[in-house]
Amino acid sequence: MSSNYSLNGRSILITGGTGSFGQRFVRRLYELYKPARVVIYSRDELKQFEMAEKINHPTLRYFIGDVRDAERLQRALKGIDTIVHAAALKQVPAAEYNPIECIKTNILGAENIVNAAINEKVERVIALSTDKAANPINLYGATKLCSDKLLIAANHLSGQGGTRFSIVRYGNVIGSRGSVIPFFKERRKTGKLPITDVRMTRFWITLDDGAAFVDRMLGVMKGGEVFIPKIPSMKITDLAKAVAPECTHEIVGIRPGEKLHEVMVPRDEALNTMEYKDFYVIQPSFHFWDYPQDAKYEDMEGKPVAEDFEYRSDNNDRWFGFEELKTVIG
Ligand SMILES: NC(=O)c1ccc[n+]([C@@H]2O[C@H](COP(=O)([O-])OP(=O)(O)OC[C@H]3O[C@@H](n4cnc5c(N)ncnc54)[C@H](OP(=O)(O)O)[C@@H]3O)[C@@H](O)[C@H]2O)c1
Repeated sequence: MSSNYSLNGRSILITGGTGSFGQRFVRRLYELYKPARVVIYSRDELKQFEMAEKINHPTLRYFIGDVRDAERLQRALKGIDTIVHAAALKQVPAAEYNPIECIKTNILGAENIVNAAINEKVERVIALSTDKAANPINLYGATKLCSDKLLIAANHLSGQGGTRFSIVRYGNVIGSRGSVIPFFKERRKTGKLPITDVRMTRFWITLDDGAAFVDRMLGVMKGGEVFIPKIPSMKITDLAKAVAPECTHEIVGIRPGEKLHEVMVPRDEALNTMEYKDFYVIQPSFHFWDYPQDAKYEDMEGKPVAEDFEYRSDNNDRWFGFEELKTVIG
């Protein structure tokens, strides 16, 4: 797909670059582009050491730092023109139990990204969001919504010709660290899988598709959008059967902070939402620059969604069936 902002020759910093997404994104960068410099920004030296054993390149730098540390972040951004902000605390139960820690990383960290990016005249910043930020009911989702709002509003601070900030929002990533597939695989040994609710549905995206979508939206972003790919849903019971067909299921009930179904475009955002061939865009409610007259992406004209539109994991028209899940899980 064509992109008018090529990553060739760019200096790109990825916060949370040692995470599931970050590692896949870095591999993609070196497979498809010739970046001038790629900087990994994260806290844990062991994760960086282990990643460096697997992924190394003369232009790849490992920088230890915390997104909570504004001074360090600004230092890391010297000469950077593109930021992919993926660092986050993302475990729902941990966030409920340690709310202020999640607030410091996900909200104050986002604020630090905004200030440092504007100070260092970074051209584009794209941040990863989650379906849990849409109509949030848990602290993790609420902090990601605040982070989204901070980045969107930052387009006002930077002004025309300044840093552009946009968001990519998607659902559960198949097989990412701490997700349900590794959990089910581990529990398989016991012969019994815990199922929260037989009705539960989730959106699903592969790491490859997530990284490709972020790359593509970096190319076309104008600033202020929440980009949402059209992705399939799956039933949690189908996933359990695909991972461990021989296991029995134990119904354990929905955990604190969990929803039965996830939402990516809330109904109340329908008035700001445009539909494109394979993605939606929630436009900023405060319009920047040439919005909404110039709402074209990759030469595609968008069309407004219906006023009562809501993009939910249970009303999706694309599903991962049992057989497809088996293939994806491998
Ligand atoms: N996985 C999913 O299902 C999913 C779905 C939708 C959206 N997302 C979003 O996608 C992004 C990436 O997720 P992921 O699955 O790749 O997460 P992950 O595997 O848990 O990686 C998180 C990364 O963030 C770093 N990090 C955490 N706190 C930090 C801090 N204070 N300062 C700097 N770095 C920090 C971690 O390294 P250190 O611990 O070494 O600092 C790690 O590199 C997150 O923003 C998440 O909200 C994920």
